[in-house]
Amino acid sequence: MRITNDVVYVGVNDKTIDLFEGHYKVPRGMAYNSYVVLDEKTAVMDTVDARFCDEWLENIAKELGGRRPDYLVVQHMEPDHSANILNFLDKYPAAKVVTNAKAAAMINNFFGVDISGRAVIVENGGTFALGRRTLTFVFAPMVHWPEVMMTYDDTDKILFSADAFGKFGALDADEPWDDEARRYYIGIVGKYGAQVQAVLKKAAELDIEKICPLHGPILAENLAHYIHLYNIWSSYEVESEGIVVAYTSVYGNTKRAALATADKLRECGAEVKVYDLARSDMAHVVAEAFRYGKLVLATTTYNGDIFPYMREFIDCLVERGYKNRTVAFIENGSWAPVAAKVMKERLAACKNLTLIEPVVSIKSGVKTENEAQIAAVVTELTK
Ligand code: FEO
Repeated sequence: MRITNDVVYVGVNDKTIDLFEGHYKVPRGMAYNSYVVLDEKTAVMDTVDARFCDEWLENIAKELGGRRPDYLVVQHMEPDHSANILNFLDKYPAAKVVTNAKAAAMINNFFGVDISGRAVIVENGGTFALGRRTLTFVFAPMVHWPEVMMTYDDTDKILFSADAFGKFGALDADEPWDDEARRYYIGIVGKYGAQVQAVLKKAAELDIEKICPLHGPILAENLAHYIHLYNIWSSYEVESEGIVVAYTSVYGNTKRAALATADKLRECGAEVKVYDLARSDMAHVVAEAFRYGKLVLATTTYNGDIFPYMREFIDCLVERGYKNRTVAFIENGSWAPVAAKVMKERLAACKNLTLIEPVVSIKSGVKTENEAQIAAVVTELTK
């Protein structure tokens, strides 16, 4: 795949992976992107996952057409991009690694090899000429590891954006960008909104025509759309009006209350998404909670705490900095309901949450007084 006359795709599609980073479901696979930049000197941008070494090296050799690569630019040391650094250096003994000091230290940590004799260490804002074009390095710490840097090609006006603007799915996955990019962003980078905001400000100073991330498609049109979404996600603002109802239920009573609440919200004209946390992709529901402005949490009291799937869900929200939203609660407990109290305590670290009263408090089965509580919650959520 030719991106410009001088920039060519040499990445790979992974159709065999089940869990990305050990826990994200990727039913449509994953792409590990890598690029060759052809100029007076040639540079390869990052490597790929260990299992695709041969395919990647073949792609490079084919696109170089007899030339040999002069440089390997290492933007990120997570192994889905760095696993083949030594294989590359073995195959091309004259090539050098262009990277920053933090990444060079990580190369030593991962591989037990000091590459200082074969490395060009660059600084934040530093430049590196390949011939006609100059690469500028924009450090992007914690997007999503501390050593991450992006690279700007001033001739083709490409931002090589590392993990940023990536998504789940192989390159031939036939799906819209937004949903799987949101699930990827919220899950993997969501905690680091402030750092993403900082790098978006730096990127705004660049004249960018194409974004080449390390996962997902090359973005060449309507860049304002993607940047707009990244700005919303990283500033923890609401992307879409609507309400997520996330529940767990053991014998169906809590589910009944959650679905009744969802039905009444829809009767009031609200967009509502309902998820059974035991049977849904947790990363998707977490991303949905960040997408919408309002959330109903429904769960049972369980061992003096809350049901495990709800505990995991709330932990996922808290560790990603969930904030600026409205939350209502449905609890169930047959003899000593404490679920609402526990959910509120677990959310206490989140900033700027509006907690709706009353709590819908069920003792075993949904009764008349619960219907009145549900009606009151619906009124609060839709006013
Ligand atoms: Fe795609 Fe943070 O690695």
